Formats: sequence, structure tokens, C-alpha cells
Amino acid sequence: MKKKYKNFHIFVGLLLVLKVSITTAETLPQYGKDMHLGVQTCSGSTCHGAVQPWQNSSVLQNEAITWKKYDHHARAFKTLASERSKRIAKNLGIENPQKDNVCLNCHANNVPKEKRAKNFMISDGVTCEACHGGAEKWLGIHVSGVGGREENIKAGQYPTEEPLARAKLCLSCHYGTENKFLTHRIMGAGHPRLAFELDTYTATQPAHYKVDADYRQRKRWSNGVRTWAIGQAVAVEETLNALTDKNRNRQGIFPELVFFDCHACHHPMSNLRWERRDSVGLDPGIPKLNDANIVMLRVISSVVDPELGKRIEEETKRLHQASMKGGDATFEAADVLRSTLKGVVQKISKHTFNQKEMEKILNALLEFGFHGEYVNYIAAEQATYSIGSVIEAMKDSGMIRGKAIEKVKKAMDMAYEAVKSDEKYRPSEFVKAIENIKKSVSPELQLSKKH
Ligand code: HEC
Ligand code: HEC
Ligand code: HEC
Ligand code: HEC
Repeated sequence: MKKKYKNFHIFVGLLLVLKVSITTAETLPQYGKDMHLGVQTCSGSTCHGAVQPWQNSSVLQNEAITWKKYDHHARAFKTLASERSKRIAKNLGIENPQKDNVCLNCHANNVPKEKRAKNFMISDGVTCEACHGGAEKWLGIHVSGVGGREENIKAGQYPTEEPLARAKLCLSCHYGTENKFLTHRIMGAGHPRLAFELDTYTATQPAHYKVDADYRQRKRWSNGVRTWAIGQAVAVEETLNALTDKNRNRQGIFPELVFFDCHACHHPMSNLRWERRDSVGLDPGIPKLNDANIVMLRVISSVVDPELGKRIEEETKRLHQASMKGGDATFEAADVLRSTLKGVVQKISKHTFNQKEMEKILNALLEFGFHGEYVNYIAAEQATYSIGSVIEAMKDSGMIRGKAIEKVKKAMDMAYEAVKSDEKYRPSEFVKAIENIKKSVSPELQLSKKH
């Protein structure tokens, strides 16, 4: 009996390990081992290519139309033939961006030739399988309709509903990895700066799915705050991976400028905005590392684990100081922060964020602004996405309701207006906007009285 009991434990342990490996260690679709069958295979009129959503189906069935008509991913390959792309290519000495892996790796489903089935077309851009995984093994189970979510995932479907897996997927193109990365050289050639926030971008990608009661029965859907928090933690992890990657952290004798706050160097001199930030501790006239996601992670930690929050603040300050001392010092300081954050992504992804915590997070997001943390444009941009995300989640859970909804919307519009243009950005306008947000939610929520 005792022995059986013990084996049972091992068995449960094994199941847990398997479960964890299913939900955390996925291979990104681009590097999976299965064949990619092409959009045509998914978009038959009786599959995902219906003109109208189906009445009696659990999924909408018109996904391909939504994607083709409204989703920027469907035109990502076409973009590579635009005037702007031609200019970028010319400046980089790339002959044809539609044929060059540097561009195709993010603007298409660039799987190796041997993984492309008969109907696969690179010109389809960022396709269904670029996010959902090569369909070779799961198409059968999937069409038969007998398999549940677990079976499909086991057969190679990517768990896009899991925020952690989704963060890694989206960031692989919206930030980059060791295999594909937008350096300042490519930005200098004319590529736009990449901005990303998981919850906001999930909401702005034209939805080809509906999170209703039926969906929730088949899949887990996380609240926006959890999705936002996981997205921030993964973005910090990816940044530190890049900063400690010898192939990415330098450009000759110079540090790789893509890690720095773009607007420290690029904004009109008539728009003076420099202010001292205590958490950075650098003097005027010095480019600063872009720490926008780290600031957001400090906000999260200040609620979930204040000790950790303090430590992140100290180690980030050391990282800022080290950036003045050269590549080796920067590398070492980034590595220290990276080890401190080992396991933090997992920890945050297990956190559910109850109403009290959402309120505290909103409070912290606003307070950080009153203490000068959003002087630089990219931090203000992340803060706006983040505040928007938390407020949406609060509305969903009924914490903000009635007349307050309209007031909050007006205040949010003002914040979006303040970050609309990076060139015209003024920190003082932004602080005014977040003061308004605070006022608009204060009657309902118990935000702190200080600041
Ligand atoms: C294979 C690379 C790739 C992956 C994976 C990817 N994207 Fe994108 N995404 C792009 C590219 C490239 C563009 C720009 C396309 C264009 O406009 O030509 C883009 C554009 C977008 C846009 C439109 C941005 C705008 O300026 O309006 C949104 C929103 C977006 N992606 C969200 C997501 C989300 C959410 C995920 C994860 C579920 C994701 N993306 C995964 C490559 C990718
Ligand atoms: C690491 C991934 C990545 C790589 C590599 C990459 N891009 Fe992009 N590109 C993106 C994403 C993501 C966007 C959308 C940015 C947004 O709107 O948030 C984008 C946007 C663009 C845009 C602007 C599209 C628009 O509608 O305004 C152009 C042009 C462009 N890319 C061209 C190129 C060219 C040319 C190359 C090769 C030299 C290239 N890209 C390489 C990820 C990448
Ligand atoms: C940029 C990434 C991306 C692309 C491209 C993409 N999807 Fe999705 N898809 C998602 C995300 C994120 C979800 C929501 C999470 C989930 O349910 O897995 C989703 C959900 C779905 C669902 C699930 C709906 C449900 O109720 O369970 C279907 C079906 C689907 N997508 C089909 C498609 C098809 C077909 C295409 C191509 C025409 C496509 N997707 C292209 C990211 C993408
Ligand atoms: C330390 C200062 C510094 C930082 C930080 C910096 N850049 Fe630059 N950037 C430069 C310099 C210097 C040039 C080259 C200007 C020239 O040759 O005229 C340049 C050129 C550019 C250009 C081409 C401008 C043109 O006139 O064609 C773009 C676009 C650009 N950078 C974008 C970015 C983005 C996006 C970021 C942040 C991810 C960034 N830069 C961060 C210094 C910086």
C-alpha cells in the first residue's frame, strides 16, 4: 500500500511535469518539426473560409476572411514590396526584401523549404500556421472534430490561448530573438521602431475568435491584467537575453543602440523634456537604456512581491550606471538582473490577480508616473497601454461601472492623445492625463491619497 502510494506520487509528479512541459516549453511554429500546409488548406468554405460566421459551430469558421481582409499579418509580405521597404533594402544593400531571410523571418511564415507542403506559399505572409503551428499532424484530429484541446496541442498545435506561450510567439517577431533581430542598423535604414504590449496587441489584432461561454469551456482565457503582467515579464526576459547575447549587444566598438531609449537621441531640440529620474541616476546628456518594460515589471512586483521590486530597482539602477562604463560592465550588470529574474515569469504566470490586486496595480501605475518614471516617451507609451489594459479588466469584472465608464474613457483618450506623437511628447501633459485618470476612477476605487 505504502509503495503503491509512493508510485502514485511519482505518477502524479510525472503528469505534472508533462503538463508543465506542454504549457511552457513549446517550440515556436517557425522552428517546429511538422510540415506547414498553407493557408489554402485552412480556408476552404466548409473550414475556416466561410463568408459569415456559422450559427452552430463552436468556432466562427470565417477566420480566413477576417485575417485576409483586416489583419495586418496577411499583408506583411506585400509590405516588403512597398516604397519604404525598397528604401530600407537599398540602404542595407539587400537586393529584394521579398526574397531575403532577414525580412522574411518576420514578414512571412519563413519555415525551411523542406517543411513547405504543396499549397504553401511564402507570399501569404504571416499565416495561420505561423501562429497556430504546422498543421501536418493536427489537421486530421482537428477536421474529425473528436480531439479536444490537449490532443490538438500534443499533435503540434501551438497553445495561443496561454499568455506565456502567446507572449513568446508574438514577441519573437514584435521584439526579436537570437535568430531574427532588428538592430539600430536596420532602424537607421528606415525600419519603424517596434512597440508592443501583449494584452493591447491581442485586442487590436482583428479578432477571428470569440471568447464566450463555449470558448471558456474548451479553453482557459486569462484576464487582461494577468496577460499584461506575463507579457511584461517575458519582454524583460527577452531584453536581458538580448543584452547578454554577444552576437546582439554590440555594433563594432559601439554598444547596440537599439537597446537605448530612441528619443534620448531622436527628438526635436525645441521640445526640451529632460528630467532627472532617481531610479536611473544618470546625468543630463547621456543616452539611457530603454527600461520601459522593466519599469512595468517593477509596478507588478510592487504588488506581487515588494522585496523583489526593490531588488529589481537597485539592479536596474546599477545596469544604467554600468552602461556608462562600457560593454563588459553592461553585460555583467544585465546578467545579474537576469539571474535575479530567473523563475519570475513562471511565478507571475501562476498569479491570478484578484480585484484588490488590480486596484493596487492601477494605483502603482499612476503613482510611478507622479514620481517621474514616465519622462521618456517609450515608458509613457507602455504605461498608457498598461493602464488601458488594467482599466478594461476592471470594467470586465464590474469594478468600474455606470457613469464612471464614460469619465474613464475621456481620461484615457487624453492619455492616448499625450502619447500620440513621439516628437511632440511632453511629460507634463502626460502627468496631467494620468491625474485625470485617477480622478475619474477615484469615487469607485480606493486609490492612495498621497502624491
Ligand atoms: C511571424 C512574425 C509575427 C508573429 C508571430 C506575430 N506578428 Fe504581429 N506583426 C508582424 C508583422 C511583420 C507586422 C506588420 C505587418 C505589416 O503591416 O506589414 C505585424 C503587425 C501586427 C499588428 C498591427 C500593428 C499596427 O501597427 O497596427 C498587431 C496588432 C499584431 N501584429 C499583433 C500580434 C500578436 C497579438 C501576435 C501574437 C499572437 C503577433 N502579432 C504575432 C509579425 C508577426
Ligand atoms: C524581428 C522581426 C522583423 C524583422 C526582422 C523585420 N521586420 Fe519589418 N516589421 C516588423 C513588425 C513587428 C512590424 C510592425 C510594427 C508595428 O506596427 O508595431 C514591421 C513593420 C515594417 C514596415 C512598416 C509597415 C507599415 O505598414 O507601416 C516595413 C516597411 C517593414 N517592416 C519592412 C521590413 C523590411 C524591408 C525588413 C528586412 C530588412 C524587415 N521589415 C524586417 C517586424 C520585423
Ligand atoms: C498573429 C497570430 C495569429 C494568426 C496569423 C492567426 N491566428 Fe488564429 N488565433 C490567434 C490567437 C492569439 C487566438 C486566440 C487564442 C486561442 O484561442 O488559441 C486564435 C484563435 C483561433 C481559433 C480558435 C477559436 C476558438 O473559439 O477556439 C481559430 C479556429 C483560429 N484562430 C484560426 C485561425 C485561422 C484559420 C487563421 C488563418 C486564416 C489564423 N487563425 C491566423 C492567433 C493567430
Ligand atoms: C545614442 C544615440 C542614439 C540612440 C539611442 C538611437 N539612435 Fe537612431 N541614430 C543615431 C545616429 C547617430 C544616427 C545616424 C544619423 C545620421 O547618420 O545622420 C541614427 C539614425 C537613425 C535613423 C535614420 C534617420 C535618418 O535620417 O534616416 C532612424 C530611423 C533611427 N536612428 C531610429 C532609432 C530608433 C528606432 C532607436 C531606438 C530603438 C534609435 N534610433 C536609438 C543615434 C541614436
